[in-house]
Amino acid sequence: MSIEATGPNADQIAFWNGDAGKSWAKNQALMDSMIEPLGNIAISESVISAADQVLDIGCGCGATSFALAKLGANVTGIDVSEPMLGIARSRADTTDHHVDFVLGDALTHAFERDYSVLFSRFGVMFFADPVAAFRNLLGAMNESGRLCFICWRPAIENAWISVPMGAAIAHMPPMPQTDPRAPGEFAFSDKDYVAEILDAAGYKEIEIDPVDQALTVGGASDIDQAIEFYEHIGPLARVFSELDEPTRMKALDAVREAVQPYLSDDGLTLGSACWLVKARL
Ligand SMILES: C[S@@+](CC[C@H](N)C(=O)[O-])C[C@H]1O[C@@H](n2cnc3c(N)ncnc32)[C@H](O)[C@@H]1O
Repeated sequence: MSIEATGPNADQIAFWNGDAGKSWAKNQALMDSMIEPLGNIAISESVISAADQVLDIGCGCGATSFALAKLGANVTGIDVSEPMLGIARSRADTTDHHVDFVLGDALTHAFERDYSVLFSRFGVMFFADPVAAFRNLLGAMNESGRLCFICWRPAIENAWISVPMGAAIAHMPPMPQTDPRAPGEFAFSDKDYVAEILDAAGYKEIEIDPVDQALTVGGASDIDQAIEFYEHIGPLARVFSELDEPTRMKALDAVREAVQPYLSDDGLTLGSACWLVKARL
């Protein structure tokens, strides 16, 4: 089965089936090692038991789906990205028989089951209409169900992005003003906005707490790997891909210089800042 880039999320479906999804799929191990500590916090806060039926929203290459299943839960991962779901399916083995994956859009998918946990690691900030998406997801939750997801706080609070970006920006043409709430990594960086969305979608007992955690960026053990990550894989990759060659080289040199002080034997370590969001029916 394949997915068409149609409906309200057409742009994001195309995006996650294009270079972005292919790059995540190719670099899955790297991405997973970097954000695993953040996913683990959300998993721990979800208090999973063997009785749980979990929906992993925007499950990508499936790392959190497998981690949740290892706690005994039955897990369904849903995602719009064929390349990423392809990796997830290829990673499933006989020990993960309580994991299945659905290629679909969480905003429009007609869920047939009642889940006790709606979970996500960075997979819910890409909806064109977040209230409609969370309302649809609420319909998939059983009466005692709970929601738990982790999303980024503003880029400026995330040193792993703001340090390289701050250095690169001096070499880049002025960037067009964009809507900070447009679908994308940082769409949920305003805590009050997230609370409004969940409230409007019908969720109760909404709790949003900060999580501050050091990350090893892109699994980098030397400066070249770090630069490779920023250029091709992380959220800055799109920005770099739009620069002409001389500008890109200058910007990358500036990034190299800016992140060098954060490199140690443990890799390139910089701070991250997230929201841990919980709610109930
Ligand atoms: C930043 S990635 C995170 C992937 C994964 N949760 C992880 O932590 O590795 C965001 C994921 O959300 C998925 N996604 C975006 N919009 C979606 C939608 N409307 N329905 C389902 N998945 C979506 C993307 O395809 C992508 O896999």
